[in-house]
Amino acid sequence: MEEPIKGYTYGQVGQSPVSIADLDLLKKTVLFTEEDEKYLRLAGEVLKDQTNEVLDLWYGFVGGNEHLVHYFSKNGQPNMDYLTAVRVRFGQWIMDLCNKPYDQTWLNYQHEIALRHHSTKKNKTDDVDTVPIVNYRYMTAFIFPITATIKGFLTKKGHDAETVEAMHSAWFKAVTLTIILWTYPYINKNEF
Ligand code: HEM
Repeated sequence: MEEPIKGYTYGQVGQSPVSIADLDLLKKTVLFTEEDEKYLRLAGEVLKDQTNEVLDLWYGFVGGNEHLVHYFSKNGQPNMDYLTAVRVRFGQWIMDLCNKPYDQTWLNYQHEIALRHHSTKKNKTDDVDTVPIVNYRYMTAFIFPITATIKGFLTKKGHDAETVEAMHSAWFKAVTLTIILWTYPYINKNEF
């Protein structure tokens, strides 16, 4: 049996303030359809044995940028245990984004991850003492690198260009939806 992931509490968190009805309208707004769900499942198949390579690339990006590794640090010193603990949950997130139904349980965990980037809950899961918040501007900025860099991995399993494009587009929509949900705590009351 696989070891449980430390701090991964999917299905065991509080209720999201965003309703399923609001999620449906957001999906409609980013043009997310059942077709995208189908291509996300395919992307999940394609990515499942490549998550380590994906994470190496993303961690290389964070690690190579002082202003990003800052968020895993205290007094300019990166906390390696924290980086490692988050990396395992990040790997699970890739699979969840592709495979989980976007239901109430999923919505609730999106809010939990939102709180974990925000000052409400950052550092708490891993009981660390690093900077207290991931600033909003970088949350949204990350949509592009997380989307652009996945494309190469989607091409690795011999799918034709049209299918890769469909998987990539589904991924982009899913990441966009996710980050919108993750920025909830940063937005003034009644303005989300
Ligand atoms: C946590 C993904 C933006 C720093 C996480 C986790 C995931 C993730 C999956 C773990 C969630 C869990 O606990 O289950 C992403 C994605 C982003 C994004 C997809 C945007 C597209 C950022 C940015 C930074 C950052 C811009 C700044 C460098 C962190 C930190 C944690 C974390 C420090 C640990 C938070 C804690 O203390 O619990 N991220 N992230 N993330 N991420 Fe991000």
